[in-house]
Amino acid sequence: MLLLPFGIASAIRDFLPSSCGPPTASNNLFVKTPSMLLQLICGFLILIRGERVSGAITFNTSAGIYNSSQTPSSFPWNTYNYCNAPHVNADHYSLPVNATKGSELVYMNVMMRHHKRTPDNLYPNENELNPSAGWDCSDFIQENYGGGTARVFHEVTIPSWHPFLSQIWNGTCDAGQLTAGGLADAVQHGKDFWALYHTKLGFLKSVNTKDILMRTSTEDRTQQVAGGLLFGMDHTTAGKSFPLVTQPSGIDSLPPDYSCSKANNIRNAYQSVPAWTDHLEENADLKARLDATLGTAGLDAWSSWYDHFFDTFTSRTCAGHPLPCNSTGACVSQADTNQVFAIGDFEYNYIWNAAQNSTTYTQLTFGVMFAELAMNFKLFQSGGETFKLRFYVGHDGSMIRLASGLGFGKVAPLRWPALGSEVVMEVWKTSKGEHFVRVLHEGTPVQTLEWVGIDEFVALLQSNVPDNLFEQCNSS
Ligand SMILES: *[C@@H]1O[C@H](CO)[C@@H](O)[C@H](O)[C@H]1NC(C)=O
Ligand SMILES: *[C@@H]1O[C@H](CO)[C@@H](O)[C@H](O)[C@H]1NC(C)=O
Ligand SMILES: *[C@@H]1O[C@H](CO)[C@@H](O)[C@H](O)[C@H]1NC(C)=O
Ligand SMILES: *[C@@H]1O[C@H](CO)[C@@H](O)[C@H](O)[C@H]1NC(C)=O
Ligand SMILES: *[C@@H]1O[C@H](CO)[C@@H](O)[C@H](O)[C@H]1NC(C)=O
Ligand SMILES: *[C@@H]1O[C@H](CO)[C@@H](O)[C@H](O)[C@H]1NC(C)=O
Repeated sequence: MLLLPFGIASAIRDFLPSSCGPPTASNNLFVKTPSMLLQLICGFLILIRGERVSGAITFNTSAGIYNSSQTPSSFPWNTYNYCNAPHVNADHYSLPVNATKGSELVYMNVMMRHHKRTPDNLYPNENELNPSAGWDCSDFIQENYGGGTARVFHEVTIPSWHPFLSQIWNGTCDAGQLTAGGLADAVQHGKDFWALYHTKLGFLKSVNTKDILMRTSTEDRTQQVAGGLLFGMDHTTAGKSFPLVTQPSGIDSLPPDYSCSKANNIRNAYQSVPAWTDHLEENADLKARLDATLGTAGLDAWSSWYDHFFDTFTSRTCAGHPLPCNSTGACVSQADTNQVFAIGDFEYNYIWNAAQNSTTYTQLTFGVMFAELAMNFKLFQSGGETFKLRFYVGHDGSMIRLASGLGFGKVAPLRWPALGSEVVMEVWKTSKGEHFVRVLHEGTPVQTLEWVGIDEFVALLQSNVPDNLFEQCNSS
């Protein structure tokens, strides 16, 4: 495995000849062609990118924070932080370079991932792989009551006598539950958003249901994050009602959750070729070590990809928990954890962005959401939009598809969308009355979408909506 510090990796990337092109079978360190030097440089770069070189697969184990919501001040503010992605904020915001005098912000859509949570996946013997106190979720109240009735809330209890105790940690948390730290991050996210779009730019005047539409998935964690955001924007919202728009879970376009067998078949096919299977084979030693410590050997969900290991490690490290240690005292090592993090980035980029046919997969599975976004911007163009802001709180699956469809993956490989990952789509009106869209990803303007005509942006969204989506999804 090649371990390169971030600075060196990016320095080498800057040497990349533009003629490197996509990796091919001959694009390795040992070809004997006249353009050997170029091949060598390209091969080295591919090595850093985490692609295949002479049968060895390595990963870009580069910069990233995975153990705290606070990025240390010694790192750039917009460093990838899996625990709490950078987001738009007044200190690091600049007006669009192309905005001429008299241009004003007139409309926006935002999509983000929820904040920190407990692991979504459980080891077969989950209990022993946690500190004895387990997970604490007693520090904020889980309310969920029928309007006009008693304000009931629920508390998770995990009785010590429960015969199935081995399958869950101790404490007061369910799987996939937003933690108090995640709620605090959501509040700060809302505060930063408001400091920019209200205080600095004066675009949003107040938090009200006429100007702001909040849409979430059906999960408690996205809804609680929406509440945290609103509270961060305006503390007087505490205890007040605010509607969240959701779709039925079976057809929800946001996570997304509608079924599409054609998409599944396409993905299965590109996860059956060497471009995918090689990385599983090459990391067999790592997998064997993890299985031995965590009791996951022979389980499909843990062997077809590294998703579950990634989730169970990051959820722990982001919450300040130790890496899992089993009852014989053996722990997952930091080095193996770093490798899992790098593989996670590789897998997300491959599945949703880089694989042959991944574009089709992304479009089939997120086409309904792209259609909804296109409708929003067209409604705005037609003068029929009543909201100033439509704010979506979804999941990593929402963010990776949006990032891929908007073409972010053509600029640089996509990484696993961090907790709180954010895409902001701003519409600006020039003094001549023209509308331009500017997109920001994790608080930073996206190179290719810094100033595009609204028609062009709508066309980009619509280009991700397959024809006859329902029929296609149900064909083979
Ligand atoms: C490796 O990671 C760094 C830090 O995230 C990133 O800037 C760089 O583009 C990556 N390099 C490649 C070739 O993917
Ligand atoms: C968290 O990660 C950073 C960056 O990798 C590292 O420098 C730091 O020591 C880690 N902190 C803890 C408490 O593990
Ligand atoms: C934005 O400004 C740059 C630099 O002035 C210019 O080259 C570019 O054409 C402008 N883009 C648009 C869409 O107006
Ligand atoms: C969790 O609690 C049970 C019951 O009190 C205890 O037997 C078990 O050892 C605890 N788990 C850990 C990892 O300490
Ligand atoms: C991509 O789709 C085409 C057309 O269906 C198919 O021939 C090809 O094998 C697919 N590629 C992968 C890697 O699955
Ligand atoms: C704990 O992990 C070690 C090292 O991977 C392994 O040898 C041992 O069998 C594991 N113990 C249990 C109880 O899973």
